Amino acid sequence: MSQEKTAVSAANRTFYIETFGCQMNVHDSEKVIGTLEQQGYTRVEDEEAADLILYNTCSIRDKAEQKVFHRLNDYKKLHAQGKRFAVLGCVAQQEGEKIFERAPYVSLVSGSASYRKLPEMLVQLEQGASRITGLDDRQTEETFETEFTARSNRHRGYITIIEGCDKFCAYCVVPYTRGKERSRTSTSVLAEAQRMADAGYTEIQLLGQNVNSYRDAEGRKSFAELLAAVGEISGIQRVRFTTSHPRDFTRDIVEAIDAVPSLCDHVHLPVQSGSSRVLHLMQREYTREQYLEHISWIKAAKRPISMTTDMIMGFPGETPKDFEDTVTLAAEVQYDGIFAFKYSPRPNTPAITMADSIPEEEKSMRLQILLDRQREIQRINYARHVGQTLEVMVEGHNSARGQVIGRTSQNKTLNFTTRQPILPAPGSYLKVLVTKSLPNSLVGEAID
Ligand code: SAH
Ligand code: SF4
Ligand code: F3S
Repeated sequence: MSQEKTAVSAANRTFYIETFGCQMNVHDSEKVIGTLEQQGYTRVEDEEAADLILYNTCSIRDKAEQKVFHRLNDYKKLHAQGKRFAVLGCVAQQEGEKIFERAPYVSLVSGSASYRKLPEMLVQLEQGASRITGLDDRQTEETFETEFTARSNRHRGYITIIEGCDKFCAYCVVPYTRGKERSRTSTSVLAEAQRMADAGYTEIQLLGQNVNSYRDAEGRKSFAELLAAVGEISGIQRVRFTTSHPRDFTRDIVEAIDAVPSLCDHVHLPVQSGSSRVLHLMQREYTREQYLEHISWIKAAKRPISMTTDMIMGFPGETPKDFEDTVTLAAEVQYDGIFAFKYSPRPNTPAITMADSIPEEEKSMRLQILLDRQREIQRINYARHVGQTLEVMVEGHNSARGQVIGRTSQNKTLNFTTRQPILPAPGSYLKVLVTKSLPNSLVGEAID
């Protein structure tokens, strides 16, 4: 079949895509959607109406992985209607061809390191192939770049600057599912940011599993310099970046935030544990003290920078004393938010064979204690904003409450009312006086 003929037959085809997992996956899906549309496919919002159903999957914890298999099971019956299925992302890479055994109606299995080859894989699909794989690219130096990215929001958008992960933390699947760490060139990142600014975007979020491990493939810019350069593009009012790894967190990142007003007042710096002993077992390659030193740089910045983190409860061998170290670290840092998870044993990772696993009930108890303490910290942190006037980007409206939903530079939700007869449009920026605080959001009134 010729390429041209394929394009013609693809022109009648529809697809439905569902995305699980982190922001990297969300953004990968935006690129996959763009690629499919470029190949002549049309997106639909309902599985029943689609010829091709894609799941972009996550395997970070067991629950996330199980969700994918439940989903595949739920929709098995659609196969009888001639629909094709594709499994993408981290479960695809982790389980590979085993997915065909478990769900024989799946036609395509591809990890994120192979998405560059999607156009070819789609041609094979059109030709009726049934066991198409993109699983052999984890050692690639190449990144997935496309000019057809179908961003879901017209005002703020993601740019992946580094793919993969080489850190091999003892509990984590990502180095196995996303492959080797590889950075884009700063020229390519800045060209994409410029195209977004030209298209009217005002907020850019730079992405990577470890965004600050960025090493310019051309050697021109450090991560902090790239941040500053994106922030200096005319029209870009806000720049965010996630996730930073403490091991590669350097002082010049804080200096860049201080120097460039468009860089947002927020750093997400996952600590995982407050115990140096557990951090060592986790192979994080920093100590509690080193982490706290990075935090001291952030706290010494000229403007108040909000800090958030990720933590794992009940890593194998975590004693009550280790857990207490995590609680005291959270109290010392005074985070504005913690994403805390119970440790989930994952395939292929060294931690799965470690001794002294912690019972589920104990993990749940530790999680609850941490979250209770954190709620109190956040209540105080959020209350400090009452009386301040903050700039928000409008995200949408809550018509039931007659409120506008805004987001502050610190990445806090600020719901507010306005006396203007017409509600401000999503994507607009305005000043809001904070009148009330809750542990997870702020309430206010727009300044006319
Ligand atoms: N690269 C980032 C995190 C990516 S994964 C970093 O190193 O900080 C997002 C979060 O999921 C991690 O920060 C960690 O807290 C959590 N996580 C990863 N593997 C996990 C596991 N096996 N069990 C529970 N939580 C896990
Ligand atoms: Fe996973 Fe560690 Fe890599 Fe983060 S740095 S993605 S936790 S292996
Ligand atoms: Fe999940 Fe893969 Fe992201 S495992 S968290 S989708 S990198």
